Amino acid sequence: MSLTSKNNGAEENRQVPQHIAIIMDGNGRWAQKRGMPRIAGHNSGMKALKEIVRACSDMGVKYLTVYAFSTENWKRSFEEVSGIFKIMVLYIHKELKELTEENVRINVIGDLSRIPSDAQKAMNHALKTTEENTGLTFNIALNYGGRSEIVEAAKKLYNEKTGSGGSLDDITEEEFGKYMSTGGVPDPDIIIRTGGEMRLSNFLLWQCAYSEFIFTDIFWPDFSPEELAKCIDEFYGRHRRYGGV
Ligand code: FPP
Repeated sequence: MSLTSKNNGAEENRQVPQHIAIIMDGNGRWAQKRGMPRIAGHNSGMKALKEIVRACSDMGVKYLTVYAFSTENWKRSFEEVSGIFKIMVLYIHKELKELTEENVRINVIGDLSRIPSDAQKAMNHALKTTEENTGLTFNIALNYGGRSEIVEAAKKLYNEKTGSGGSLDDITEEEFGKYMSTGGVPDPDIIIRTGGEMRLSNFLLWQCAYSEFIFTDIFWPDFSPEELAKCIDEFYGRHRRYGGV
């Protein structure tokens, strides 16, 4: 889909970004500011996510990747970690029907094998139920870490090449990229991070080479479709040269 807008009287054809990636930060601080437990922030964060998934689907975005749980998030208290996974299970139970109706395909990147078994079960059910859908791919980064993803890709490629007597010398970036968990998915056009921090925190390290970064101070639970539209507008204002002039 493309959006048309007037810019100084001239009509511009603006392609909807194909792939938007989001680091949903600030749930804890949102709750603390209100004297609420951190988990209340994650709960509100899930409601914000629901609206963003719908907005992306309605706009015709092809891929939305969200950082739901990093490999570093295990350092949090047992109470918070188990609360986050409970919220995910609840989200899937409540939203799967609507997501299916909206033709959304759910996908997971990261190591699902270490997450609580009820969350694994719910995720696997969501993957199976939506696997034939052809609209928005809602990519959930769960127990995900970018460096580990690169190391795993290297091992896999090495094993396949050496196992088949192939040479490591002719590996291209394109071929290597296919071994990442996002293999076949275009790199994110935009990476948004809410919550005021300006870092990547081990998210999509390989895929972010030419992404536009947008940082906002807004805490994730307050990130609305209107805020997303502002980020997309900022993206349109950037001039992507991919190293050219
Ligand atoms: C970061 O805020 C947020 C998280 C680590 C968890 C986000 C998870 C959800 C919103 C549930 C997602 C559900 C599905 C199905 C994908 P923070 O706790 O780091 O906030 P802080 O920086 O203010 O402490």
